[in-house]
Amino acid sequence: MNFNILPEDSRIGGKNVLGLALFEDFTKEDLATLPSSLGVLVGMSIPRARFKAKKGNTLVVPLADGEAQCIAIFGLGKREDVRFDDYRKAAFTIVRQAAVKGLSTVAMSIPNAEDRLVSRAIGEGAALGCYRFEKYHEHDEDDIFAVPHSADMLRGNLEGLEEGKILAESQCYARDIANEPGNVVNPETFEEFARTLAEEKHLDIRVYHADELKSRGMNALLSVGSGSATPPRLIHLTYSPAATPVAALSIVGKGLTFDSGGLSIKPADAMLTMKGDKTGACVALAVIKAAAELELPIKLHAIVGAAENMPSGAAYRPDDVIKAYNGKTIEVNNTDAEGRLTLADALAYACEQKPDAVIDIATLTGACAVALGETTAGLFTNDDKFGDDFLAISLDSGERFWKLPMDDENLRKKVKSPIADLVNSGGRYGGAITAAMFLESFVTKGTPWIHLDIAATDFAKEPYSYYIKGATAFGMRTITSYLLRKAGRA
Ligand code: BES
Ligand code: MN
Ligand code: ZN
Repeated sequence: MNFNILPEDSRIGGKNVLGLALFEDFTKEDLATLPSSLGVLVGMSIPRARFKAKKGNTLVVPLADGEAQCIAIFGLGKREDVRFDDYRKAAFTIVRQAAVKGLSTVAMSIPNAEDRLVSRAIGEGAALGCYRFEKYHEHDEDDIFAVPHSADMLRGNLEGLEEGKILAESQCYARDIANEPGNVVNPETFEEFARTLAEEKHLDIRVYHADELKSRGMNALLSVGSGSATPPRLIHLTYSPAATPVAALSIVGKGLTFDSGGLSIKPADAMLTMKGDKTGACVALAVIKAAAELELPIKLHAIVGAAENMPSGAAYRPDDVIKAYNGKTIEVNNTDAEGRLTLADALAYACEQKPDAVIDIATLTGACAVALGETTAGLFTNDDKFGDDFLAISLDSGERFWKLPMDDENLRKKVKSPIADLVNSGGRYGGAITAAMFLESFVTKGTPWIHLDIAATDFAKEPYSYYIKGATAFGMRTITSYLLRKAGRA
């Protein structure tokens, strides 16, 4: 979708869908952004429909003839309470109207869009409004979905709009991979996605296959993948900016292409959506893709342990003791706590690259979903300043995170083993926290680290805000927005 910014004093006519975002206290002048005849029509429709521009309220006014097929009005609520996410939702709602109706052009009037960050949010919303994952079923006749090819903006900041588009399109790239089922994306085909990305974005790529994982002692990742017909691998992508980097960061993603639970097998229902257990890895690829497209002056590593957790004669077992890459030993008490094992090796490897900071993102624990619900993800950190900076960014990205504590030394005892350095599962109570404590043992001391637990937020069972059913790639925009901020790009 291409954005055009209209010259001053224009109106938003001449397109298939005319979108208007309004504050609750809107006046006639706000409707004057429409061509005069339509302004009058909308002025009459609003009271007739008893429409109030409260946050999220939407009114679609169909038009009888002319190029414009409808006017979509989105309520921003009270002017003083407006958040970036309201602009994002407004753009999503307007563009979505066009897309589901198969209309190719949109024009929007959204207040405050001269501001770069408002425009960035609008660009994100607009691009998210174009997304769906439809490759596996035939379309019936009345399915006329089409991505609109242009959006005229009455106000806007082109740089912000383009940045937003990159953020959202990269998020949709992550959704596309995450939505693929386990019979299509396995560790081998995931590697192909990474190789294609590396080629397209001129990234360095290094892949460690089973033999090398073994010789290097990455036994935790190897063990998790040992039950699968497709062997595991560690994938390391590097983006080196043309300009001198202002920082170096590693993004580590959990890459379970399917999680059956292994020998500690999951009940049938709990196995559904476990194709999404690679979402963290998809997000890591998407972040490095966006960083390259945004030409961020930050050196970035995306590191993924790709594996499939399956039960078989070759599978790892409960009671196994494994020596991880950093030399620590782990007693396996549940093969379904596999993500933290793959992350153990990947995190230790990530720290070896000597980044200034590490962020890992993982569909790690059902316990996190129980604690925070399906629309807020967990944040854990060994560095409060780093965590708080990230949380501040997330208030603007619309991806909700909530910090959970890491300082309960009694809870920490639950990941100690009588026969090894650690056990991989600390049990049900505090399960998201003990998982984070386990991970912390594989982060080199002194490396600022954030762990993001996106279990359940990774997958929308029903559509909400700008998420449609399926993979959300939750967290991708917040991580990249954090990098933008780090690069001084607001
Ligand atoms: N991939 C799951 C976590 C998960 C659950 C993600 C629901 C998305 C939605 C993870 O590997 C897992 O199985 N965790 C176990 C840990 C337990 C065995 C300590 C869990 O949450 O039950
Ligand atoms: Mn599991
Ligand atoms: Zn898992």
